[in-house]
Amino acid sequence: MSGTGHASDERPVTVPRLRKMKSEGTRITMVTAYDATFARLFDKAGIDVLLVGDSLGMVVQGQSSTLPVTVDEVIYHCRAVARGTRRAHIVGDMPFLSWQLSPEDALRNAGRFLSEGGAQAVKLEGGVDAAPTIRRIVNAGIPVMGHVGLTPQSVHAMGGFRVQGKTEEAAARVLADAIAVAGAGAYSLVLEGIPTDLAKRITESIDIPTIGIGAGPQCDGQVLVCYDLLGLTADMKPKFVKRYAEFFEDGVAAARLYRDEVRAGIFPSEAYSFGNVKADESPASSLSLVRTAQPAYGPKG
Ligand code: KIV
Repeated sequence: MSGTGHASDERPVTVPRLRKMKSEGTRITMVTAYDATFARLFDKAGIDVLLVGDSLGMVVQGQSSTLPVTVDEVIYHCRAVARGTRRAHIVGDMPFLSWQLSPEDALRNAGRFLSEGGAQAVKLEGGVDAAPTIRRIVNAGIPVMGHVGLTPQSVHAMGGFRVQGKTEEAAARVLADAIAVAGAGAYSLVLEGIPTDLAKRITESIDIPTIGIGAGPQCDGQVLVCYDLLGLTADMKPKFVKRYAEFFEDGVAAARLYRDEVRAGIFPSEAYSFGNVKADESPASSLSLVRTAQPAYGPKG
């Protein structure tokens, strides 16, 4: 496995390629993204998968859970992410009650993430009970990423965001969920909030890649919420999160400096201004716009 090889490989990341990464022992990197700018940042860094997660309800909308998020909202963010992405594989997260009502309703909603959102796959939270629905969506040609263990949409049934599978009996249930999801045709599986040895057991038991979050180091890949990775969540530091930057603190410091410079008359200086109107030119021609056009990727809309 090469440490940086995938970051410099410009080929689009596809479902077959992600499956091959498991068989070759190349770890998969996944991060959530909700807009074009962050998508561009992670795509440039060589992240393999961008998940437009329903976590947007918490980090973007400021809700206390993911439950209020709607299909339309996730699709809106998918479109923005698709415009900023060239290489990464984009997964749209199916929110609460978007797949549970019936397999037909689930299929109709899943299709929208691809046709309207520009995603290449959908993710849904669920195990044995979700398997027939996963089969229905997969049979229609839509790749499905599963999600078992701590499933945030079941926050009330779990009694909070709690680690799952901690006893042998509970671990057997999570393992059965994972096997059912893989058996239903999912191409990858998120393992969230489970003990390390259970994640290892699942990873060895199924032939699709497992992507862990709070599931230890033995999964085929890892995922982090981008606001956690970049240190944008000011007041939440869960045990499983490693922050690779402190964007919130850096942002507060930058905004304070801006405030102080504006108040002191330091900004904008001449260097950030357009000069004076010349007598022999029309006012419009003395203005020059410095912004360059950015290439747009993905669907317009
Ligand atoms: O919505 C989300 O961000 C997720 C990840 C935590 C896997 O489901």
